[in-house]
Amino acid sequence: MRGRGLSTLFGLILALLLPVVAFRPAQIPLSDASESDPLDVWLEAEIPYALDGVLNNIGSRGAKATGVYEGVVIASPSKNDPNYFYTWTRDAALTIKCLVDAFAVSNDPRLQQAIRDYIDVQVSLQTVSTPSGDLATGGLGEPKFEADLVAFTGEWGRPQRDGPALRAIAIIAYADWLIEQGHASVVDSFLWPVVRNDLSYVSEYWNTSTYDIWEEVHGSSFFTTAVQHRALVDGAALALQLNRSCPNCLSQAPQILCFLQSFWSPSDAFIHANTNLHHNNNPPRRSGKDSSAILASIHAFNPLAAAACDDPTSFQPCSARALASHKAITDSFRPLYPINQGIPAGHAVAVGRYPEDVYQGGQPWYLCTLAAAQQLYHAVAQWKRLGSLNITAVNLPFFRDIYPSAAAGVYTSPSQTFCQLVEAVETYADGFMRIVQKYSPANGALAEQFSRVTGTPLSAKDLTWSYVALLTASAARAHARGTEQSDTDMSLAGLDTPPSPPPSLPNICAPTSATGPYIPATKISWPKMPCLAPGEETIPVRFNVRVSTIVGEDILVVGSVAALGQWDVRQAVRLSADEYGVVPLWYGVVELRVGREMEYKFIKRRADEDAGDVVWENRLNRELRVEEECLGGMVVNAVWGESE
Ligand SMILES: *[C@@H]1O[C@H](CO)[C@@H](O)[C@H](O)[C@H]1NC(C)=O
Ligand SMILES: *[C@@H]1O[C@H](CO)[C@@H](O)[C@H](O)[C@H]1NC(C)=O
Ligand SMILES: *[C@@H]1O[C@H](CO)[C@@H](O)[C@H](O)[C@H]1NC(C)=O
Repeated sequence: MRGRGLSTLFGLILALLLPVVAFRPAQIPLSDASESDPLDVWLEAEIPYALDGVLNNIGSRGAKATGVYEGVVIASPSKNDPNYFYTWTRDAALTIKCLVDAFAVSNDPRLQQAIRDYIDVQVSLQTVSTPSGDLATGGLGEPKFEADLVAFTGEWGRPQRDGPALRAIAIIAYADWLIEQGHASVVDSFLWPVVRNDLSYVSEYWNTSTYDIWEEVHGSSFFTTAVQHRALVDGAALALQLNRSCPNCLSQAPQILCFLQSFWSPSDAFIHANTNLHHNNNPPRRSGKDSSAILASIHAFNPLAAAACDDPTSFQPCSARALASHKAITDSFRPLYPINQGIPAGHAVAVGRYPEDVYQGGQPWYLCTLAAAQQLYHAVAQWKRLGSLNITAVNLPFFRDIYPSAAAGVYTSPSQTFCQLVEAVETYADGFMRIVQKYSPANGALAEQFSRVTGTPLSAKDLTWSYVALLTASAARAHARGTEQSDTDMSLAGLDTPPSPPPSLPNICAPTSATGPYIPATKISWPKMPCLAPGEETIPVRFNVRVSTIVGEDILVVGSVAALGQWDVRQAVRLSADEYGVVPLWYGVVELRVGREMEYKFIKRRADEDAGDVVWENRLNRELRVEEECLGGMVVNAVWGESE
């Protein structure tokens, strides 16, 4: 059946890895390859590639989302087998949360623009009438929309009640940043109304059934419940900052947390992904082991939560129950996939959604394998921050695999055992990253899945969520490595949510609900973004051109200014094809002087022919005026030979 994916993040010290410049050169030189860890070398090139992969899939500037409205995040440019050319509320929200965390450290204006465009889109999307209902009657639970923001009316697994929760979490993260910048009134007037609708939805419907994250089973979902809890906790904290209140957040969050506990099975010693399943559409019996529990732990991760690593109220990445589940889930794929054969316990393997999966052949997924790494990086960061780690009967089997002499007890920094345990987990986490590295194509493109037999990429190409998962796992890795001195980094990364009283767990879980309000939000008037720094005279201009080529052909851009070769085809700028895929994309970035007007054309040349021997686009010269925009550079989207 349909399956699809997404994921997300936290922790993001992307700044450690992302160049602060808005654009990377087309080719990243592999520096010091002989001395460096191959994973570091790969990530140095893959991280900017993945960020491009995300931005390419966001309209209207994105090279693979042309013709899509500004701020619409498509799941993948793939339009058939499978067709993912839609915007899912879940995937889009996870994507924007990733960009907010990255923006908070890089200040890359391209990210802020995408974030704002996305929020603008949600204002109208919340009022679209869908098969799930209208704004006030459950419509927010509609899982996906057409790329032109029209309701999708085909049969689908609806509603999916994680979407509004994830959207609230993403927008709140950006709201926190705006408040830090002194824009609390903008947040109060424009963002709070959007967030409040989503919080109302969560408060009203958390105790009713939903389709799960994979859009397949109808019942109650651990992932959905976990992110619903986080949304209300974050929502209550935002309300407090705005001198408002969210009574429904406060009344429902403890009940959601109470219900969340019921997914843990003490006898099975792992989190069951789904309960309350509706039998009419039940798939064949499942074990309950499902990567969505790992995704839940990383998306509910709050590094400053008072609960830290303690059970039972926390399923944070470092909690004993989340680690026991990590083991049960990842182990279920060891005997299943031929590519995992021969890999001993305690060493990373390729991870899929759940062992009984048959969608597209039931393959490993990049984002699930990356999530397995990310959970462990978050756990490492927490242990380092807390300076202690507790091995209990529940997580002992997890530790035994990677540290055979592990024994129950409390280990504190800087004891040798504490350091060795933390290092073993870090090494194990890196192993999952290395699996992704091993099964990624040379150009860095990430599809949805890879073959369980050969490891070659399968299913939707350029899956936004796969790129997001790479970015968030990498950021968590950087954060885990640099954690000792990084309490201030965390606030920089927008993780410094204001303290809210940790919700207490009710003695008895009750089926509850709280209603309203739902009020359409109004068009947002954003504070102006800073533009060029004083003295800066050029901006990066990214040329995207769609043109099908055969091996051996190159595409170049040549034009009237020196940076474009002054019409000398031998001085033309060669574009890159490393993002060529479902979309036949050639692209390149050129620094051009603001205010200049120029003419240019794309040309085609065979690599083995004389540099002067080119094929010109058959059309009038293209014209360009380089404008001082605040978007982190200009983007030109073109189709070979077509007039603009
Ligand atoms: C509603 O909440 C109660 C109490 O936590 C729980 O027992 C029940 O399974 C929940 N039902 C759904 C559909 O969430
Ligand atoms: C909230 O109230 C406090 C104390 O009165 C005040 O300092 C703060 O500026 C207020 N915040 C907002 C967003 O109005
Ligand atoms: C360690 O975990 C055990 C078992 O859950 C618990 O009884 C103990 O209080 C914990 N110790 C610390 C220091 O957290």
